[in-house]
Amino acid sequence: MQSCDLTVKIGNLVLKNPVIVSSGTFGFGEEFKDFFDLNQLGAIIPKGISLEPMAGNPPPRIFETEGGLINSIGLQNPGFQEFIKNKLPYYRHLKTPLIINFFGNTQKEYIELARRFDDVRGISGLEMNISCPNIKKGGIVFGTDPRMAYRLAHAVRKATKLTLIVKLSPNVTDIALMAKSVEEGGANAISLVNTFRAMAINIHSKKPELGNIMGGLSGPAIKPIALRMVWEVHQAVKVPIIGMGGIMNAEDVIEFILAGASAIQMGTANLINPRAGIEAIQGIKKYLTQNKIDRIQKLIGAFG
Ligand SMILES: Cc1cc2nc3c(=O)[nH]c(=O)nc-3n(C[C@H](O)[C@H](O)[C@H](O)COP(=O)(O)O)c2cc1C
Repeated sequence: MQSCDLTVKIGNLVLKNPVIVSSGTFGFGEEFKDFFDLNQLGAIIPKGISLEPMAGNPPPRIFETEGGLINSIGLQNPGFQEFIKNKLPYYRHLKTPLIINFFGNTQKEYIELARRFDDVRGISGLEMNISCPNIKKGGIVFGTDPRMAYRLAHAVRKATKLTLIVKLSPNVTDIALMAKSVEEGGANAISLVNTFRAMAINIHSKKPELGNIMGGLSGPAIKPIALRMVWEVHQAVKVPIIGMGGIMNAEDVIEFILAGASAIQMGTANLINPRAGIEAIQGIKKYLTQNKIDRIQKLIGAFG
């Protein structure tokens, strides 16, 4: 197979290929190490981290649905200190860039976390999850109010030197407006989409399938909507886009790149096939070779 150039750029970050494993679907990385060499991935994003540990939502927290998965994990995580002490050291053995997904309940918490991660060795970038309710503003989700999202991106941008990726919620009417707001705030890249608010009911027990009633839908069921959103955002902003939502294989990856994504993330796919990421990388190489394309960057936004 002729060699082709798979490198892509996200802010200051150069990834050797565009395949990133998404937050919450790849544990803390180490759990997947027996399935393939993790150094082959473009980047790894572990479970989202908050300042303090979080216990998450009551069970059941996962429900399989037609073509997808509804989860209500509730951002369970060990918190900043425990992550640095017991989870981060594993990544220092890897060559793959580590991007930290983080979130807060207030703007102050987001800033504090960005500052703390800025001082830690071995972190290549930050992915800020803004799909969280701001407890100070009565629970309005940061990611659904363009002004709040702008202010948050602006404040956090000043708190860190690391590449700042802002991860958008798809639960909005105008995704391009949200993207423009965080770009103006100073985001170096935008990742989309997070999960779609969803629910399921058991008709026999007449009870919700999830302990939290509502959760977030991911997987192939959301792919066409996520793709449309990536395309809309591609037309609205200049910063690189990391696309995701139901990507299962190399064909899906190519589709998102043609729609304007510079890189992609795979989430639910990892839960079905732990080797999904590495298989997608192999499939991308095959596609490029068969189509005589020497650089993947030529495909970004190149449909139509
Ligand atoms: C079980 C589970 C846990 C997740 N946890 C997080 C998280 O902690 N932070 C975050 O930003 N996104 C989280 N997500 C969202 C994924 O990273 C991704 O944005 C979403 O699932 C869409 O991609 P997919 O269809 O490929 O899974 C989670 C998704 C799932 C299924």
